[in-house]
Parts: sequence; C-alpha cells; structure tokens
Amino acid sequence: MRHTKVKDLLNSTTTLHEVNAKGWVRTFRNNQFIALNDGSTINNIQCVVDFENTPDETLKRVTTGAAVSVTGTLVESKGAGQKFEIQVSKLEILGDSDAEKFPMQPKKHSLEFLRENAHLRVRTNAFGAIMRVRSVLSFAVHNYFQQKGFVYVNTPIITGSDAEGAGEMFKVTALPFDNTPRTEDGKVNYKEDFFGKETNLTVSGQLEGETFAMALGQIYTFGPTFRAENSNTSRHLAEFWMIEPEVAFNDLNDNMDLAEDFIQYVIKYTMEKCQDDLKFLEGRLLEEEKSKPQAERSEMPLLEKLSFVLENNFKRVSYTEAIDILRDCTPNKKKKFNYIINEWGADLQSEHERYLVEKHFKCPVILFDYPANIKAFYMRLNEDGKTVRAMDILFPGIGEIVGGSQREERFDVLVEKMKALGIDEEELWWYLDTRRFGSAVHSGFGLGFERLVLFVTGMTNIRDVIPFPRTPGSAEF
Ligand code: 4AD
Ligand code: MG
Repeated sequence: MRHTKVKDLLNSTTTLHEVNAKGWVRTFRNNQFIALNDGSTINNIQCVVDFENTPDETLKRVTTGAAVSVTGTLVESKGAGQKFEIQVSKLEILGDSDAEKFPMQPKKHSLEFLRENAHLRVRTNAFGAIMRVRSVLSFAVHNYFQQKGFVYVNTPIITGSDAEGAGEMFKVTALPFDNTPRTEDGKVNYKEDFFGKETNLTVSGQLEGETFAMALGQIYTFGPTFRAENSNTSRHLAEFWMIEPEVAFNDLNDNMDLAEDFIQYVIKYTMEKCQDDLKFLEGRLLEEEKSKPQAERSEMPLLEKLSFVLENNFKRVSYTEAIDILRDCTPNKKKKFNYIINEWGADLQSEHERYLVEKHFKCPVILFDYPANIKAFYMRLNEDGKTVRAMDILFPGIGEIVGGSQREERFDVLVEKMKALGIDEEELWWYLDTRRFGSAVHSGFGLGFERLVLFVTGMTNIRDVIPFPRTPGSAEF
C-alpha cells in the first residue's frame, strides 16, 4: 500500500478506512500517542497506538527521531487542534533513533546549536517551515519571470571576470600549491593552469546576462554566487543565491518598477501558498520578541509586515536627498552612528540604510543616483558627471536587498571609465562588443535571495535561511 502524505491526510474531507503514513516521530506520549511528521506540512498527525496489542519491544522503539510506518483508519479526532487522527492497526519501525543521543530533542534549542546541526535542524518545526517557504519563494521567482516572457539564463559559475570590481573572489585553479609554475618575473603562470588563464567563482552573472539581454530582450539568472569578503555579519554569506534580471530598452525608472512589482509578486504568492508555515513563523517571532527589550521589538507582526510591503509603494529617494536626511538626523548629530555622515559622497553603511527605512520613512525605500565613485564601473553616468543611475532597495530589518542600475550603453564613456579604474579592456573584449554592435539602453538588478527569505520568514541571521551556510571559517557539511 502506497503511503499518503500527512498534509493530504489532515486535509481529507472524509474519514478513510485504510491509510498508511510514513514519517519521523516528533513525540510519543503515554505509550499511546505518536506525533508524526513527514515534512509535507508543519502540522503533525496524531497516531493513536493500540498499545495493549502492540509488543513492548516495538513500543520501546518509538522514540523521538525514529522513522516509522503506521497503517490504520483515518478517524475524526477527539483531541483539540486537529480534525483527523490515525487509529493505528499496524505499527512498523523503519529506522531506530537513539533517543538519548538524538540532538533534536522536543524542546527549544538555540539557533547556534541548531546551526552546528544543520543536517538535523531541518527536522524541527522552524527549519521545516523556513525551507518550505524558501522553496515556494524560488518557484515564485521563476513563475513571475516566466509569465512575463523572460528567458532563464544559466551564466557560468567559473569565470575570468570580476563583475563587481571589488576583487573579493575565490580563485579556481588546478595548479599545485608546491612547485607552482612561475613566469620569469616570479608570478604564478596561469597559462599553465586548467583554463590557460586566471579564473574565479562568479560574484555576479550580470555581465554575461547583459550579452543575452541584448539578444533575447528580457532575461533573468538565478544561481549560486560567491564572495570572499571577510564580513562576519548576519547579512553576508560566502555562497549565496542571486536573481539577476536584465532588460533591453529599460531605463532606471522601468528597472525600479520591475523590481518593486517582482518583490511584491513573490511575497504575495508565498503568503498564499505558505499560510501554515508563515503563521508558525509569526508565532515564533512573537515569542522571540518577548525576550527583547521593548525598544528593540519590531513594531509589526510578521504577516502584517508582509502585507504592508504589498500594499504600500516603495519610497523613491535620491542619494542626495538621503544624505541631507542623514546629516541632519538625531543619531548622526549625537554621534550614535559608527560612521558619521559629514558630506555628500559618503558610502552608506547598513546603520544608515536601516535608519532611513525603519525610523525615517518606515517603509521600503529605493535609493537612486549614487555618486559614481562608490559604485561599479558599468553604471550609466548622469548628465551631472558625478552620479550614476544606480538603485539600491532597502528593506526594514534587512538593509540592502537589491542592487541594480541602468547600464552605461555608450562605448566611449564605458571605455573611459574602465581606463580610469584600471579595468583591462582586453579581458572584457566580449562585454565591450555589446556596446560595439547594436548597443541600447538597458537595465537590471540583483536580488539577494537569502535576504528575501530572511525578510519573508522574519528570521534575523542569514545563516538560518540557507540549508548549509558557508561563512568565514565555516564550511561544514
Ligand atoms: O549589490 P550587488 O553586489 O549587485 C550586483 O552584484 C549586481 N551585479 C547586480 C545586478 O545589477 N545585476 O549584489 C546584489 C544583491 C545585494 O543587494 C544583496 O541582496 C545580495 O546581492 N548580496 C549578498 N547576499 C548575501 N551575502 C552576500 N555576501 C551578498 N552580497 C550581495
Ligand atoms: Mg550592492
């Protein structure tokens, strides 16, 4: 007999004569009640064991974490909180679990402890919920772009370029560490390496994505991205997933419209599909908030916060306006910021971004027209000669969630910029070809997928929204 998912059993419209369920024991009470979970839903199904007719040997093996198969009838439950339960006629132990040693005890664990057990934490309610939400969100991403006729492009993971020009890359090499081949002047001779040149893991698929947008019109990427920045924060991963749409003939305003519509769509979709999980995560967050001092508590429950983002336009503010606000704000005057904003041109830190979003505007904010010298080389220079058509989207509790821009489509201006920054034109000959042959206005952005999952789940550490986080000093599993 084929087993039925717990989700389907709980959603059944009638009692059923014979059903089979398979899953893992969450708890076993009074030698009689198994709370069984199979991952299909956050909810457990109660399985009532006929303990008088079940051998003691078997009952003893019903321990937290054990895999079991239960066969019986689906009946209406007399217990509170569930419509149906299984009256078990046959109980089989599929895989024993040493209850004393099983790390996921039915009690509250710290997130740090759970991180050290990332292979088992997904068996808890919270991580089951987070990972289901993550999965639905990624489907929503594809759904959005596919419905709009975007082409999904798989840009290379191993590349020879540093798209962001930040130089924070992981090298990819097959050269030996001892006896490394050297050139005459003592440098590593990458000509002898696997690809015959220096290569790294991609920090962004944008540059390759642009070449495709200049043929297919609207494209998006959704893939793993790597950054060797040594920032041990709750917002940074060394390996994260990024979504990068790129659209020919879109200017910066179109780009902002697209980003806003896209984010609202994926959140709405997920709120509809993940009601049980989000309700659970909201409850979890409320519990957590109780342990915080009043001033640090978030003002809105999770679902309300998500609805707020759907119902309100993102506030669009130029960098120059933002600097004026920040320069005059109380935490800046009272030197409460770690980085004091004195003048136009300063790079914004996450403390400033969060002030703008959480204290000043109290809604998501799109900052645009940043100083050219704090942004990447490929952004379109404005007529003022000192700002570029960049945009960052800032979210409450997160800070920057999206970075994007209108691209510099003018060959001469782009080459001049590259020269000024010491970017090798020969290295990026293929990128420059897009400006040589049929160049046009185009724009795109990158959304950090884990930052989106953070926002939607209400979690606060990015390590808790990716299955197996990679951060400085940590690559277990
Ligand atoms: O702002 P970034 O660096 O922009 C780009 O890479 C552009 N090439 C995107 C584009 O225009 N196509 O990164 C985009 C987003 C950030 O806003 C942030 O959400 C996320 O990627 N991000 C990270 N997420 C987790 N860990 C990190 N280390 C991240 N670095 C960036
Ligand atoms: Mg950025």
